[in-house]
Amino acid sequence: VPGASDTSELLARVRARPLPRHVAIIMDGNGRWAQARGLPRVAGHREGASAVRRVTQAARRLGLQALTLYAFSMQNWSRPADEVEALMLLLVEFLEKEQQELLGNAIRLNAIGDLARLPPRVGERLEAVRRATAGGQAMTLTLALSYGGREELVHAAQVAAASGGSIDEAAMEAGLWTRGLPDLDLLVRTSGERRISNFLLWQAAYAELYFTDTHWPAFDERELLLAVADFQARERRFGLTAEQVAARGGRE
Ligand code: IPE
Ligand code: IPE
Ligand code: MG
Repeated sequence: VPGASDTSELLARVRARPLPRHVAIIMDGNGRWAQARGLPRVAGHREGASAVRRVTQAARRLGLQALTLYAFSMQNWSRPADEVEALMLLLVEFLEKEQQELLGNAIRLNAIGDLARLPPRVGERLEAVRRATAGGQAMTLTLALSYGGREELVHAAQVAAASGGSIDEAAMEAGLWTRGLPDLDLLVRTSGERRISNFLLWQAAYAELYFTDTHWPAFDERELLLAVADFQARERRFGLTAEQVAARGGRE
């Protein structure tokens, strides 16, 4: 089992190299984490909320500009009503407990998705924390809630069409819920599944993908650092040849 000194060594190594500006995580495996322990699924979600806290602080310490977490998909609305209800409750609890911590660490809370679909008490809490943390300059924590990538693209196309101008890349970008965030550099999925599940379809165009078998409730600072270290060892070519990339002076 890796110890704490091991993690600080890894942190120093990762900090010494260019960091991804924007990391997104598909937080999967809460149910399987609980099931493996003979616990109800909601116990996995509760532990998953602790992991959100932990990983947010780790990302902030590391110096990421933006962390985006897939917390609830558009398709997750079709889960059993009691599970949806429990997730919404945990969300309100998280927002209530974390407001001070976010403020204290200059973290700005942001949310993307069809937020109008959230229960009023969730939407209100979300708005309150968003307003309270709006001045946070160190990192933007974006929660994807009631989020779907296809739904976001439809929304962006509608915004672009309504603007009356031509529908080009810039017009689409302007209509995305992620407008204003840095380009996505690294997309992580936990718990062994290797699919996108309707997350950040547009934004993932040139993101590096990283998959780990670790269930989300067990994901921690060390896991985040391992993902970033893996990212740092890759060459992003954006369609160019390796020679062109080398001539340009290495990776971005
Ligand atoms: C991720 O864990 C949390 C949400 C999707 C809300 P899951 O609940 O999908 O856990 P598994 O995939 O069933 O293990
Ligand atoms: C993706 O996980 C959504 C979130 C992590 C919020 P799911 O567990 O819902 O995805 P699928 O159903 O395995 O594709
Ligand atoms: Mg899942």
